Amino acid sequence: MEKREQIYEGKAKKVYATDDPELLIVSYKDDATAFNGLKKGTIQGKGVINNRMSNHMMQRLEKAGIPTHYVRELSDRETLVKKVEIVPLEVIVRNVSAGSFSKRYGTDEGIRFEAPTVEYSYKKDELGDPLINTDSVLALGLADRAELEQIHRYALETDRVLSSFWKECGITLIDFKLEFGRLPDGSIILADEISPDTCRLWDTATGEKLDKDRFRRDLGGVEDAYREVMRRLETHAEE
Ligand code: TMP
Repeated sequence: MEKREQIYEGKAKKVYATDDPELLIVSYKDDATAFNGLKKGTIQGKGVINNRMSNHMMQRLEKAGIPTHYVRELSDRETLVKKVEIVPLEVIVRNVSAGSFSKRYGTDEGIRFEAPTVEYSYKKDELGDPLINTDSVLALGLADRAELEQIHRYALETDRVLSSFWKECGITLIDFKLEFGRLPDGSIILADEISPDTCRLWDTATGEKLDKDRFRRDLGGVEDAYREVMRRLETHAEE
């Protein structure tokens, strides 16, 4: 697989073209941002961890019948993925109250819901990724009804697979963000990444935060938290 020109640089990843028009190479950086890029920093070793963790989860999800963009891990930081047209939505699944949910509705963090919630944000940095409902998604033509239903099903199925995996690692999956894309044939697949940047992961025994909230909220021990979740994943995967 030949790596060609860089076609995109995001906050945490770079994307390169390849000699195959249907495939891209994603390269994970150690750069971290929060609050729509207002806060900037580096989390040493994050790129390697996020690459490996995301690939591990994508393979697990594929086995459970959820199609993903994952093709092959190329190196510590680089992965070959299917090229998709990204649906400009952040699909957020929550099992336990935290973050913007708690802020918006004035609830404590850490309250488990009877059933998971799925919410959508419109991916538009200049607007700060505003919350959007399904009627507005249809009105703006961001996705059609069938696509939204498929995305909703995949999001909840992903929650079941990931929650049960993390539970076995002694970690509670509080919430997470997914992005989906369209293949040239129009089918919807899971894209982007699944990592401590995009999930809230709390130690089940102690409640300790093992995710990017340590960076967002200046809690310290950011690198250690990323290493700890990776260690738990690897220990469990070997069993
Ligand atoms: P929130 O509570 O801030 O809305 O975040 C919900 C989940 O989405 C949390 O696991 C972190 C993740 N997330 C991202 O992956 N990217 C983002 O830009 C934001 C705001 C949240």
